[in-house]
Amino acid sequence: MAVDASDFLPEQLDLEALREAARDCRGCDLWKPATQTVFGEGPQDAAMVLVGEVPGDREDREGHPFVGPAGRELGKALEAVGIERGEVYITNAVKHFKFEERGKRRIHQRPDAKQVKACRPWLRAELDAVRPEALVILGATAAKTLLGSAFRLMAQRGQPLESDLAPFVVATIHPSAILRGSDSDSRQAQRELLTEDLRVAAEAIAARR
Ligand code: URA
Ligand code: SF4
Repeated sequence: MAVDASDFLPEQLDLEALREAARDCRGCDLWKPATQTVFGEGPQDAAMVLVGEVPGDREDREGHPFVGPAGRELGKALEAVGIERGEVYITNAVKHFKFEERGKRRIHQRPDAKQVKACRPWLRAELDAVRPEALVILGATAAKTLLGSAFRLMAQRGQPLESDLAPFVVATIHPSAILRGSDSDSRQAQRELLTEDLRVAAEAIAARR
């Protein structure tokens, strides 16, 4: 049995070939109950890559990343800093929806470290294909797996990070944190954090031009 996604990588490492090959990935056990692989999307020459955690229920059914409520928040935050969603490459640390069935509902589950590690060859290949100027890491799960388990999101968000993943790397809150806010003030406060950190990345890209 495969221990990670590397057995499934295509010979040619452009985005189209990667996306095609990822459909049949069996690099961990998450493919089985899920509907389909949700690969990253966006232009190959995107200056910014954003990486989330794992597709949700909507993403699993539709086959596209960040098309549910969290994606709507992300789109609004990008727009607030003058970036169109279509200009950036959006993906996830793990490409299959992980869930637990409760009656008719499928409840999102956080991928474990082994699953994120197994899926890592896809993310690595996406970053190699796009070679963005800035990488934005969304949420603590993705941040800890990409930057090390000592990473503390709320202490380090919005700051340029030392990493070989991209010339400029920054981490911010996951857009679903906004949705979990208990009232409109706390949701607004979370929205502002996300927007602030995206602005840091947007300015870093502008400064490199
Ligand atoms: N949350 C994520 O981390 N990724 C998605 O694609 C959707 C919700
Ligand atoms: Fe492959 Fe990643 Fe899906 Fe696991 S989650 S089967 S490694 S694409």
